[in-house]
Amino acid sequence: MTDSVSKLLTGTTGGLGAHLLSQLTLLPSKITKVVCLVRGATSKAAKERVLKSLQSRNLSQGSNVAVEVHQAKLGESHLGLSQGVYHNLLDEVDYIIHVSFASFVSQT
Ligand SMILES: NC(=O)c1ccc[n+]([C@@H]2O[C@H](COP(=O)([O-])OP(=O)(O)OC[C@H]3O[C@@H](n4cnc5c(N)ncnc54)[C@H](OP(=O)(O)O)[C@@H]3O)[C@@H](O)[C@H]2O)c1
Repeated sequence: MTDSVSKLLTGTTGGLGAHLLSQLTLLPSKITKVVCLVRGATSKAAKERVLKSLQSRNLSQGSNVAVEVHQAKLGESHLGLSQGVYHNLLDEVDYIIHVSFASFVSQT
């Protein structure tokens, strides 16, 4: 059994999620990875949206915790992820912190 903890976080482009991402990666803990599920036109765009979200709030991200951003659509089958990514996450994620506020406004 490993001591490391992996968390999945939604809502990181919003206020609460951005603060959580910053705190989860900066504060000393057993967390080794935070996986963010983010809306975006592409995977690159999703990653940029997370960075922008942190920067716009003058928040930083710790370097000791791996942050993985996946372009996702929470309302879709497998959260809009490929089957492979989805099943990897089922295996590796220990906790889910779901703070996205489901406004259902379309995002392209
Ligand atoms: N902020 C607080 O102090 C606070 C305190 C207590 C409770 N809450 C609750 O926590 C939740 C989040 O609050 P917040 O202030 O962080 O809100 P926010 O700044 O408006 O952020 C909303 C987040 O939800 C995501 N989202 C919205 N619709 C989505 C959808 N259909 N699919 C996937 N993601 C979607 C947004 O992603 P996009 O950028 O892609 O739209 C964004 O990341 C709310 O339910 C709020 O009531 C907040």
